[in-house]
Amino acid sequence: MRVSRREFLTAAGATAVAAGLGSEFLRNVGGASSTGRLLASALPRPQLFEAAFRNPPVLRPSSRTPDGDHYVITQHVGRARILNDVDTEIWGYNGVFPGPTLETRRGRPVTVTHTNLLPVPTSVHLHGGRTPADSDGYPTDLLYPANGGAQPAAGSSGTDPSGALFVGSRPYRYPLEQRAATLWYHDHRMDFTGPSVWRGLAGFHIVRDDNEDRLGLPSGDHELLVMIVDRSFGRDGNFIYPSLDPTLLHTPGVRPGFEAGVLGDVILVNGAPWPVAHVDAARYRLRILNACNARRLDLRLDPEPPSGFIQVGSDGGLLSRPVHQVHLEVAQAERFDVVVDFSSFRRGSRVTMVNGFGSGRTGLIMQFIVGARVDDTSRVPEHLSDEDVGPSGRVLRHRSFRFASAYMGAHRAWTINGRFFHPEVTLAEPAAGDLEVWHLVTDFHHPVHLHLNPFRVLSRGTGARGPFDAGWKDTIDLRPAELASILIPFDPAYRGRYPFHCHNLEHEDMAMMANFVVR
Ligand code: C2O
Ligand code: CU
Ligand code: CU
Repeated sequence: MRVSRREFLTAAGATAVAAGLGSEFLRNVGGASSTGRLLASALPRPQLFEAAFRNPPVLRPSSRTPDGDHYVITQHVGRARILNDVDTEIWGYNGVFPGPTLETRRGRPVTVTHTNLLPVPTSVHLHGGRTPADSDGYPTDLLYPANGGAQPAAGSSGTDPSGALFVGSRPYRYPLEQRAATLWYHDHRMDFTGPSVWRGLAGFHIVRDDNEDRLGLPSGDHELLVMIVDRSFGRDGNFIYPSLDPTLLHTPGVRPGFEAGVLGDVILVNGAPWPVAHVDAARYRLRILNACNARRLDLRLDPEPPSGFIQVGSDGGLLSRPVHQVHLEVAQAERFDVVVDFSSFRRGSRVTMVNGFGSGRTGLIMQFIVGARVDDTSRVPEHLSDEDVGPSGRVLRHRSFRFASAYMGAHRAWTINGRFFHPEVTLAEPAAGDLEVWHLVTDFHHPVHLHLNPFRVLSRGTGARGPFDAGWKDTIDLRPAELASILIPFDPAYRGRYPFHCHNLEHEDMAMMANFVVR
């Protein structure tokens, strides 16, 4: 499909043919909670609540200088003990899945030098980062492997003459002039993000600041990072994924039937299947990330603590005040920062995090076993942040974007305003510093993500914003046939080409992406 896609794009001027919807396709997109098709594991699935929950390892800087901290990451094939008696081959940042966590401070610049020892080119995106365009991991800014393997075609980055090209290693520079928040980094290569993230290329990047430190939220051992994914395993214990081209070098796309999304049948939290965490009878901060390719989650605690989930933050940092949530609907790439108070549970109680959008074992996520009461000095203040305020000013422009299915030649793919992703296709050219309202409309589930600019959700349909839309967002969970409006203050400091796209990774790979260029 590589060649045919490009040829098709040129021939058709990148305009999609409207899709007649086959019934098999409708089955895979028509589910109430997620758009996608289940890929069944060939192995018996692991036991529930036996694996140990662990926070991912924290990466230490290799050097600290007056002008910032320097980190080094090598992307390579690794082996992980996810199942009981067999290793799983993964693609990992430093060979582990999830990748190591970066712990950074607001306003303190960070450089991460990535070396690629994988068999394919990569591109690293810091999701939620306020990052200059040349370090943002644009889908055709490619880092080719150092060790032979895939090599760039002479004089180009393969498909996009304007894409940057590096071989071996390259630095990514993050000014981190942004609020404390839960960010994550993941692969973003054009046409192959879904299978690369599925193999393990994703990790947390936490930004902290003084405002947040002063609050006294649960921290240290009482701060848990919760990266939730679904995966499927083959007979040999390796991940399976329905790629048309398992080398991930030539032909993008998935086998017919999976174009709507790939759903796994094993739930992993920080790479461990349905793990169990031993917790004190105290308050915990959970930074929840849905890193699934296509699965949406509806999280709930069973039994429910009296205070439920106390939401303190969203994608873009702390809310102005805590919000009590009984459940959390979390679309792909969204983050929910919550405090859970286990102090009302008796010693030995088991509290299960369940997923109301799953069925059978995909309806379960992880378990907490409550231990002894400890001296808990943490707090959840009624006032959390002064920076959770929407921008004021004149809206200079309204734009509308429609996210919908279409045929790309004989293949099912996905469009924005009838266009397939192409590095040359720009659908918006806002001016730096301008305030715009974008109206987003969908056919099926599409979690829409903008790079660079956090936004506020204004409305859904004719009503107000939804219960999970509070705060600064970088991804909005759009449901079938939904219209939502978002208010975007375009960053005054950064210009250039950035993508916005659906974060169902199969939709993204199958072209549901476009550029906006900030002038
Ligand atoms: Cu998390 Cu452009 O992606
Ligand atoms: Cu992003
Ligand atoms: Cu989508």
